[in-house]
Amino acid sequence: SSMYNSTNILIINYMKGYEEACKSFEPKDLEVSAVGRHFMITGANSGIGRATAMVVAKKGGTVHMVCRNKGRAEEARAAIVNESGNTEVFIHIVDLSQTHKVSQFAENFKKQFSSLNVLINNAGCMLHKRELNAEGLEKNFATNIMGVYILTQTLIPLLQMSRDPRVITVSSGGMLVQKLRFDDLQSEKGSFDGLMVYAQNKRQQVVLTEQWAKANPLIHFSVMHPGWVDTPAVSSSMPEFHHMMGERLRTVEQGADTVVWLALSRVVSRMCSGQFFQDRQPVPTHLPLAWTHSSADEMCSGHVPLEGDLKEDPGHWRLQ
Ligand SMILES: NC(=O)c1ccc[n+]([C@@H]2O[C@H](COP(=O)([O-])OP(=O)(O)OC[C@H]3O[C@@H](n4cnc5c(N)ncnc54)[C@H](OP(=O)(O)O)[C@@H]3O)[C@@H](O)[C@H]2O)c1
Repeated sequence: SSMYNSTNILIINYMKGYEEACKSFEPKDLEVSAVGRHFMITGANSGIGRATAMVVAKKGGTVHMVCRNKGRAEEARAAIVNESGNTEVFIHIVDLSQTHKVSQFAENFKKQFSSLNVLINNAGCMLHKRELNAEGLEKNFATNIMGVYILTQTLIPLLQMSRDPRVITVSSGGMLVQKLRFDDLQSEKGSFDGLMVYAQNKRQQVVLTEQWAKANPLIHFSVMHPGWVDTPAVSSSMPEFHHMMGERLRTVEQGADTVVWLALSRVVSRMCSGQFFQDRQPVPTHLPLAWTHSSADEMCSGHVPLEGDLKEDPGHWRLQ
């Protein structure tokens, strides 16, 4: 049977439904043209990434779809070009879990293209078995963190040369149950729990974004939670959650809304860089009274949290 404890319920209820949230949206924010702007979207063949690519294409932007599967990418590109009438949609085949390949791709892209205005780190995975890539990195970490890190870090010089540059990373509200851990990035300790590894990666994306924002004042960084969205990722990696949420899951267009807003809206460039967003608003990166904060000391020294801290981990955003 599917049982949710208080942490699960807290996190699900903490997120408003889309209908409620969108009442405060300003429709004018998205009355913009993206003509002449270049967008790279990872995982653009499916779900939130694909819905984002569709809106950007409709607004006239140039879209670089970064996908791992040629067939799925071509099918999505055809649908986007057909519906938007925009042919400036390009496919790049890259598996983000393959660290060296990501680096090669990003270096080549930087040489080949003279501008990149927006990078959207959308692709993500939740693998329930511990597997390693060719570089010996655990695959959730390789995809969700190392791929994102290398792609972004390599493209920063190109972004910096471009007008109004932005980097948006699709994290998850699931990160709220995790405190940043420095001591087990490869998930070697204890039993392997894919859901918790994923949530930890999503916390790491939030911290990475904060650090990037500090280090790169010319680029606008944001990280976000799309809401709970009906996509293949959810139905395949979290079938019980998918079933339990049922009709309450958002459509892909609703899930893409804040990504699109962060990518296109002019008001965003006047907001602080490095923030966590949900439904077009910056929101705290910790739940009220949460134990997930890292102290300034830990952040500066990479200090390993005490065993005691970890034992407090409710670790309960899980399906039982
Ligand atoms: N749906 C939700 O409720 C929810 C909630 C919070 C956060 N998110 C986040 O939203 C993002 C998008 O997910 P989604 O829900 O839209 O799921 P989705 O429809 O399954 O899309 C995931 C995309 O990521 C791609 N991808 C996965 N691993 C990859 C790799 N190694 N290399 C290149 N591409 C890879 C997938 O490619 P393939 O099609 O080839 O598999 C697919 O295009 C993810 O970061 C996810 O963690 C989703």
